[in-house]
Amino acid sequence: MAPFPFCPPLFFRPSFCCGGEAVIGASQCVLYLSSGTRLFARLPTAVSPVKDELWSALRRAKVQIVAEHAGGVPQIVVSGMFLLVYLTMVYTMMRRMTGGRGKGWGDARKKVMQAQEASGPNALVTRFDDIAGIDRSKLEVQEVVEMLRSPGRYAALGASVPRGVLLAGPPGSGKTLLARATAAEAGVPFLNAAATEFVELFVGRGAARVRQLFERARKMAPCIVFIDEIDALRARSSSLMGMAGGNQEAESTLNQLLTCMDGLATREPGRPVVVIAATNRPEVLDEALLRPGRFDRVVQVPLPNAAGRLEILKVHLRLRAVPVAPEVTSQQLGEIAEKCDGFPGAALEAIVNEAAIRAARRNSSTVNMVDFEAAVSEFNQSREKTRIPDFPWKM
Ligand SMILES: Nc1ncnc2c1ncn2[C@@H]1O[C@H](COP(=O)(O)OP(=O)(O)O)[C@@H](O)[C@H]1O
Ligand SMILES: [Mg+2]
Repeated sequence: MAPFPFCPPLFFRPSFCCGGEAVIGASQCVLYLSSGTRLFARLPTAVSPVKDELWSALRRAKVQIVAEHAGGVPQIVVSGMFLLVYLTMVYTMMRRMTGGRGKGWGDARKKVMQAQEASGPNALVTRFDDIAGIDRSKLEVQEVVEMLRSPGRYAALGASVPRGVLLAGPPGSGKTLLARATAAEAGVPFLNAAATEFVELFVGRGAARVRQLFERARKMAPCIVFIDEIDALRARSSSLMGMAGGNQEAESTLNQLLTCMDGLATREPGRPVVVIAATNRPEVLDEALLRPGRFDRVVQVPLPNAAGRLEILKVHLRLRAVPVAPEVTSQQLGEIAEKCDGFPGAALEAIVNEAAIRAARRNSSTVNMVDFEAAVSEFNQSREKTRIPDFPWKM
């Protein structure tokens, strides 16, 4: 099929072609001339003057139009749709910036948080018995549990429940676990939030979130508010230096948190709200956070020693109901714990899991010493491979 030059109207002179049929599409025109020639041309879409000219030229050439498609989607509809999408995006962003309620991108998280609250403290299965190797930290937190359980007894003596407890320790040492267990043991609701969620790009959004969190806490008191990775409130501010508003946002979020914590002082003593925060890097925290009346109780959560590591291994063997081979003695497990020098609780949990996987691979129904030893060496190897630096905290 021979293509003909771009501007078809000039081409269709009665002298050139006489009779035939034409099929006009949205962007092209096909001619079946009576001379037997077939011609085709691309048409500039949505330019109606060209089409009108084409029509009259065809008619003059006595070419019959046998089919014509509708000329595609009109330009105005396309532009309108783009405008609508754009306006919707702008509107959603404005809602997020102003902290508006209703449907938004943050809805899913809100639902998760509500579900957590609705499930109440009984859904949190973490108990103090499931935490091992950090007995001193546990003891210090235990007192907060007592105070939450019977706030009246302390109030009668003029003592008030601490407003803020800061758990400081290396990653995986059990800080989150300890906070959850505190709520479960005290039988109070646990409002969970990560500080990273507060620091957003939009100025004022983080502060609004903190306010909302404390409003909910006030309604649910007595309860525990848990703020994980609280160092993000500072560390983020430097990484966002280049971006407008980043620094200011971390600052205003932090200030809002301090204001909300100060506000807890005026609460009735019978319904305390305790804020527990966790950090891997207490040294970067803003000093204002550590002042009296805020996080004035700092509980160190160190790495476990060998005896502690053995206890943690046993806890996870129990929690996962791992069938340990009968020939594995407690002393042998102790040797495994010795080998795990510098490991946090989370790593020990991973080792129990890896040993169980190895036993399953062997098609064995019990986990033996070879599995444990292989799990430890595999863990050490993978740590070297990924070059994670040694944990800086030791007991
Ligand atoms: N002391 C511990 N006793 C028992 N399990 C622990 C302990 N520390 C950590 N774990 C295990 O490691 C997991 C991660 O610990 P997590 O509390 O999240 O650490 P962190 O918050 O300090 O980074 C826990 O869910 C738990 O299974
Ligand atoms: Mg944690």
